[in-house]
Amino acid sequence: MLTLGIETSCDDTAAAVVLDGTTVLSSVVQNQDDLHAPFGGIVPEMASRRHLEVITPVVARALDEADCSLSSLDLISVTAGPGLLGSLLVGLSYAKGLSYATGLPLVPVDHIEGHLMTLEIAGGTPLPAVALISSGGHTTVFNLKRDEAPTILGSTLDDAAGEALDKAAKMLGLGFPGGPALEKAALGGNPTALALPRPMSGSRSLDFSFSGLKTALFTYLKRQGYFDQTIEGRQLPMSVADLAASYQNAVVETLLERCFAAATACNTAHLIIVGGVARNTLLREQAARMGDDRGIEVHYPPHHLCTDNAAMIAALGYRERHKAASDPMTINAYSTKALKARRTAAGGK
Ligand code: KG4
Ligand code: ZN
Repeated sequence: MLTLGIETSCDDTAAAVVLDGTTVLSSVVQNQDDLHAPFGGIVPEMASRRHLEVITPVVARALDEADCSLSSLDLISVTAGPGLLGSLLVGLSYAKGLSYATGLPLVPVDHIEGHLMTLEIAGGTPLPAVALISSGGHTTVFNLKRDEAPTILGSTLDDAAGEALDKAAKMLGLGFPGGPALEKAALGGNPTALALPRPMSGSRSLDFSFSGLKTALFTYLKRQGYFDQTIEGRQLPMSVADLAASYQNAVVETLLERCFAAATACNTAHLIIVGGVARNTLLREQAARMGDDRGIEVHYPPHHLCTDNAAMIAALGYRERHKAASDPMTINAYSTKALKARRTAAGGK
């Protein structure tokens, strides 16, 4: 069964063709980094306009690279949310149009659940497991069990981890997207040079909070008079490598403390980390060390499946093909989380 996946929830326009939910025949991702870089963050209106410009060639390329045509497809799967509403509507409307024109069934899927499919595509998801999705918009820990819907153990109360990295990188003038820029700047830096808080550390809750960390960096820089200087002439109060390394370390430690607490609470032998932040080398190395100490195996998708892509959307659509809309024209996009997961007792709530 051939599924065409379409993903436009944020600033990546993506299309993919996946065979039987696991074999990726093509996966095309066109990012918008050039467009948003001058602003140091995503400008939603510009993101949706760019999606509109490139969605047709991106889908055409995905079909071409998979060596198939619309008539050989069996199913279309599209991200309905959560994400930027204007961006989501481009992919969703395009998918509705394709479905109407071809008669193909259309399955609306959840972006976050899509990220949870990435290990499946990469060879299989070890279950039962605890899974962290850490991206620019989401930081949530799930309990995954065979043949059961994922349940939420903890989630961020404010900023996502990727967002915290992006905002710090912007403050430090490192460019966009911030996560990889900060990681590069941190090379050779001293991770203990600046004492930063570990928000909610020691709390029994499995929730996260990152806004205090961002504020701590802001307050430090402000006290040092950093923001009193002209933007072009700004001098950091300590080396950018030390600042970036200290901040990255605080984010990684905060993420991992909760993940391993969740894995221990669920008594699971597997921890899965997905989403854009899962590309981070420090996170991977530190998680591997912590996992070794605790007898917990840590799993990641390959780099290209960590960040947003449509292969994960096609894979999820295939799995949820029984949920194809009876009238695709009535599908709505949603901006905030509508995951049907429930919090469990292990989530401390
Ligand atoms: O999953 P994703 O592509 O999009 C969302 O669903 O948000 O994740 C993007 C996020 C951004 O915040 C970006 O800064 C972060 O992932 N990211 C990284 C790295 N690569 C991407 N964060 C830390 N280290 C990286 N190497
Ligand atoms: Zn994502």
